[in-house]
Amino acid sequence: MENLVIPKSIAIILDGNGRWAERRNLPRAMGHKAGCEALEKTVEDCVRLGVDCLTVYAFSTENWKRSVVEVSALMKLLRFYMVKLIDVANKNNVKAVMIGDESRFDPDIRKGIQKLVDATSKNTGMTFAFAINYGGRDEIKRAIEHIVDDAGAGVISKENINEELISSYLDTKNLPDPDLLIRTSGELRVSNFLLWQIAYSEFYITDTLWPDFDKEELLKAVESYSKRQRRFGGR
Ligand code: FPP
Repeated sequence: MENLVIPKSIAIILDGNGRWAERRNLPRAMGHKAGCEALEKTVEDCVRLGVDCLTVYAFSTENWKRSVVEVSALMKLLRFYMVKLIDVANKNNVKAVMIGDESRFDPDIRKGIQKLVDATSKNTGMTFAFAINYGGRDEIKRAIEHIVDDAGAGVISKENINEELISSYLDTKNLPDPDLLIRTSGELRVSNFLLWQIAYSEFYITDTLWPDFDKEELLKAVESYSKRQRRFGGR
C-alpha cells in the first residue's frame, strides 16, 4: 500500500493461544509456547517497520485465576523467555521495560525482569513494554495511592493535578500512548488493558489467533490504521 502511516506506538492484546492449541489437540501450554515465538517475531517486525514503542499484554492481573497447571506453565515460559528476550532485544537495539505489579511474582522471576530491563537499558531503538501481572484498574489504583502519599508528604498539591501528572504516576510514565491497539482472536473487549492510555487509540481486531499472527497480519493492521482519520475529538 502506498502512503503507509506507521503508528509510533502499537499495543497488542495477545489472545487465542488456548484455542490455537485446542484446535490441534495440544495442551494449552503449547499454545502459549507458540505465542512466545510469535511475540519474538512481532518484536522484530515492529523494529523493521520503524515503530517506536510496542506494548504487549502478556499476563493480566486476572490470569492468576486460571488453573494451577496453566499458571505454572506460563511462569515456566516467562522464566525462559525473559532470558531469550535479552538476546532478541540486544540484537535489535530494543529497550525492554516492564509494566504491571511485579510484587506478586516469585523472587527469581523478579530478578529475571530486572536482568532483562538492565541488560537492554542502553539500547536506543524501539521500546518493548512487557505487561505482566498488569491490569489497567490496578495500575490506576496504585497511581492514586502514590499520588495520595505524595500529596500527604507535600510533594504535590491538589492544584498540581492534571492529566499529565496522572500519566506520570502510571507504569507507562515514559511511554507514548498507543496510536494503534490490536487484539487477536476476534474478541471485542479491552479486558482491562491500558484503560487510561487508549483514550484516543485506533482499534484493529483480527480473527487470527495470536500464535498465527505474523508480518502479513501486522501489515494489514498498519494498512487499516493508515486509512483512518484521527481527530482526537476535534473536527
Ligand atoms: C491469551 O491466550 C494469552 C495469554 C494469557 C498469555 C500469552 C502471552 C504470551 C504467550 C507471551 C509470553 C508471556 C508469558 C507470560 C510467558 P488465551 O490463553 O487467553 O487464549 P484463549 O482465549 O484461546 O483461551
